[in-house]
Amino acid sequence: MDTLTVVGCQFGDEGKGKVIDYLSKDFDVSVRFNGGENAGHTVVVGDKTIKYHLVPAGFLGSKTVVIANGVVINIKKLVEEIEFLKTFKSSINLKISEMAHVVTELHFKRDSYLEQVRGAGHIGTTLKGIGPAYESKFGRYGIRLVDFRDRKKLLGNLSLISKIYQIPFDEKYVDSLLEDYQMIERYISDTRSYLENEIENGKRVLFETAQGTFIDVESGTYPFVTSSYTTSGGVTVGTGLSPRYFSKFLGVAKAYTTRVGEGMFPTEMFGQEADVLRNFGNEFGTTTGRPRRVGHLDIPMLRRAVKLNSLDYIALTKVDVLGKMDSIKVAVSYESNGSEIKEFDPSRVPDKVNYETFKSWRDDASNLQKYIDFIQSELKVPIVLIGTGEKRDAIKVNGRLAL
Ligand code: IMP
Repeated sequence: MDTLTVVGCQFGDEGKGKVIDYLSKDFDVSVRFNGGENAGHTVVVGDKTIKYHLVPAGFLGSKTVVIANGVVINIKKLVEEIEFLKTFKSSINLKISEMAHVVTELHFKRDSYLEQVRGAGHIGTTLKGIGPAYESKFGRYGIRLVDFRDRKKLLGNLSLISKIYQIPFDEKYVDSLLEDYQMIERYISDTRSYLENEIENGKRVLFETAQGTFIDVESGTYPFVTSSYTTSGGVTVGTGLSPRYFSKFLGVAKAYTTRVGEGMFPTEMFGQEADVLRNFGNEFGTTTGRPRRVGHLDIPMLRRAVKLNSLDYIALTKVDVLGKMDSIKVAVSYESNGSEIKEFDPSRVPDKVNYETFKSWRDDASNLQKYIDFIQSELKVPIVLIGTGEKRDAIKVNGRLAL
């Protein structure tokens, strides 16, 4: 099968947008299968920056892009994004799953409310209604695009959510939702059978996850996670496709680690050192503008990401940023209760982190090679692509990627 699934190896924001954009020219179709507009995949094209929130970041390279059933859609936002993207490509071949759930204003309000109720234990969500939209989906009172065919049904669904949340809504809102829906109606179809046919007919299909492994609702640092499946396993449920279509997996890892929102972060840096790296890497959230927490590369975390996602390949991003630092530390293991621990456990904060120090490659490029060789030998997975700068073409091939 000519498919490749791309996942994030850390907490999201690994630079997947750029890697997917690079890979997409070799794929007929690019597919998003989880999350919503909480994602922000950035691609710098000339002097313009595209921030994909709902449309797959393979948009420029692939002939067709698909938003599969596992994504939750804020329709207004999607309409805006499509309009913006039209300035980059005259014909838009977009397919949206009729089974995808919709994020409404009630979900936005619920997200803010829940964060407020959590108080000091708040998650630090993007406040885009993502958790509540999945909450409605799994609670079996969600709204799918297919429900928009019937105004009465849509109104009934909204009324039920409103009752459950105890948040009122104005009936005029239904009409404004329907107006937005009409703008995307022509793109909506059964994407599962479309993708199945494409794969069976030998087309090359790229699947891209939003967010990263350790904010996956099952495998992440719960409850400080997002509400979707961000790991390789998520691709089957998020597309409705048989698991046998997925055989190759590429993980994107940043040369250091970042995290937005609350939750465990064993290699976190603080103070001036953190500020320097944050500014070098422009580590501010694409969707919310929040400063990202920054830290050292965490090999135990990547070891777990490799296993969880069945990674065949790794793309290492932002090495240019890390190379600006004076010296570079990498976590190689942890310690807890006096024992050495080689693999990150999202439910246990280690007592201590053990580091190795590397020389900066600011003035000597061979130091970068040593860094890359070290990561490859620790993870036993080839690093096939290296991100060397912000621009679209600042990417270096370091190894062969075969499907
Ligand atoms: P939510 O997805 O808005 O519910 O937020 C839950 C957690 O996931 C928060 O810590 C967010 O900062 C984080 N998060 C959500 N989307 C992204 C992303 O695209 N990149 C990085 N972190 C994210």
